[in-house]
Amino acid sequence: MARSWQNPLRDERDKRLPRIAGPASLVIFGVTGDLARKKLMPAIYDLANRGLLPPGFALIGFARRDWADQDFGEIVHDAVAEHARTPFRESVWQRLAEGIRFVPGSFDDNEAFQRLAKTVTELDDERGTGGNHAFYLSVPPGAFPVVTQQLAKAGLTGGDGWRRVVVEKPFGHDLKSACELNAIVNSVFAEESVFRIDHYLGKETVQNILALRFANQLFEPIWNANYVDHVQITMAEDIGLGGRAGYYDGIGAARDVIQNHLLQLLAFTAMEEPLSFEPSQLRAEKVKVLRATSPVEPFDETTARGQYGGGWQGGAKVPGLLQEEGFAPDSTTETYAAVTLAVQNRRWAGVPFYLRSGKRLGRRVTEVAVVFKRAPHLPFDSTATEELGQNALVIRVQPDEGVTMRFGSKVPGTTMEVRDVTMDFGYGHAFTESSPEAYERLILDVLLGEPSLFPGNDEVELSWQILDPVLEHWAAKGAPETYPPGSWGPPSADAVLARTGRSWRRP
Ligand SMILES: NC(=O)c1ccc[n+]([C@@H]2O[C@H](COP(=O)([O-])OP(=O)(O)OC[C@H]3O[C@@H](n4cnc5c(N)ncnc54)[C@H](OP(=O)(O)O)[C@@H]3O)[C@@H](O)[C@H]2O)c1
Repeated sequence: MARSWQNPLRDERDKRLPRIAGPASLVIFGVTGDLARKKLMPAIYDLANRGLLPPGFALIGFARRDWADQDFGEIVHDAVAEHARTPFRESVWQRLAEGIRFVPGSFDDNEAFQRLAKTVTELDDERGTGGNHAFYLSVPPGAFPVVTQQLAKAGLTGGDGWRRVVVEKPFGHDLKSACELNAIVNSVFAEESVFRIDHYLGKETVQNILALRFANQLFEPIWNANYVDHVQITMAEDIGLGGRAGYYDGIGAARDVIQNHLLQLLAFTAMEEPLSFEPSQLRAEKVKVLRATSPVEPFDETTARGQYGGGWQGGAKVPGLLQEEGFAPDSTTETYAAVTLAVQNRRWAGVPFYLRSGKRLGRRVTEVAVVFKRAPHLPFDSTATEELGQNALVIRVQPDEGVTMRFGSKVPGTTMEVRDVTMDFGYGHAFTESSPEAYERLILDVLLGEPSLFPGNDEVELSWQILDPVLEHWAAKGAPETYPPGSWGPPSADAVLARTGRSWRRP
């Protein structure tokens, strides 16, 4: 009955009103983990608080703990109280708490998955979840295959309603392993039911790249090799890897963020205009541009890799990676990576895309900088333009979200001198609403079955295909170059750009 009813005041095509998820449950594997506590459970509460979850929503935790539903409820409560973005409201919490269930078990325990199947069926009766269930694998990557197969064995992947699986990063550690994982996941869940998380795509600033490029007339005519000199995509963090050895040792900066987040930023920046924002159209353009992208050789000159040493940073003494707890004393894991990529199509021929990421750098910042060519002729005395740099459009992804435009302007006075100035758009100034957390958007999209912001299997495989040759080259080279904490990476990174007379931005 409810389905046939339509709000006469609402046009289905109007995307300004937020869509509310239909009846469903979300099963989280790995609820005792860091991600579930800091991001997933708080995001679910924030969605409930914003009125975006249906009354019948249910949350199921699965973990190897001897907990009852109430014990798990307390864990969720504490995580929400500590990490939620929106204020705590008892009435919202009470309604959410009614739908919280816990299933004890480990991944190799067939009976536990049978219990899970029973719980899910009960929820369909008790809460009206309608056979719609999403399984969130917030577990070590090595466990993705076993959990997927257990779900299939327990009959949890089919039935009335929809079944979806959410897979965290990293999705494989090279092309071969990513293909193997895709084969396993796709043998159980059809591709349209697989939601691979790249939480960068849940960020407003990343989605805004599409608005900036395709809703305006100003930028598109100059968004090509005729006007753009090069593009720099940076993701820098000032913190080290203390406590994260289990995840990071043997993975490194390139696999951790370049393969996914930075290549997705490249795809958004470099892709052609999609026919529409239908998920399949958007993905088609991303796939096309990734297919045209390859690493530039020789890698000794076009890539750089570093590992932070110990020293002083921001007035505190910090250990080097090799002294961090849990890292092998001879670890060759890179904490800094820079690569040069070429996008071989008419729009971008000859325009290098420089991607870099590192830990313990000068400050925490993620940005995409489109750096323009110099004006072909400067009708000034050369002294007048000595301080003039290249025009740039900088998309500030985080923090201090916004866009900066850099151009030359006359310095006030009786002489002619031109210097760089900036013009700023900041989310904080332009909008009163604060941006939702990326995980809020992505979890809601999973429940809505809206896959636009999730990379498809072909995108993941293409990204590894781009990176694999560089990783193989590095693997044969031994230890990375050491760089001081608080710096902007190893000297070889500066050399990558200096060879062509360019330099990295200092964000
Ligand atoms: N943390 C982040 O900020 C972050 C960011 C991006 C992506 N990710 C990805 O998200 C996933 C989860 O990350 P995390 O940091 O939360 O990891 P974590 O803290 O190591 O948590 C892993 C979870 O998996 C559970 N688990 C492992 N083996 C199990 C088994 N055999 N049976 C039942 N449960 C088992 C653990 O339960 P026990 O407590 O019983 O060990 C724990 O709840 C990983 O794929 C990671 O790469 C994390």
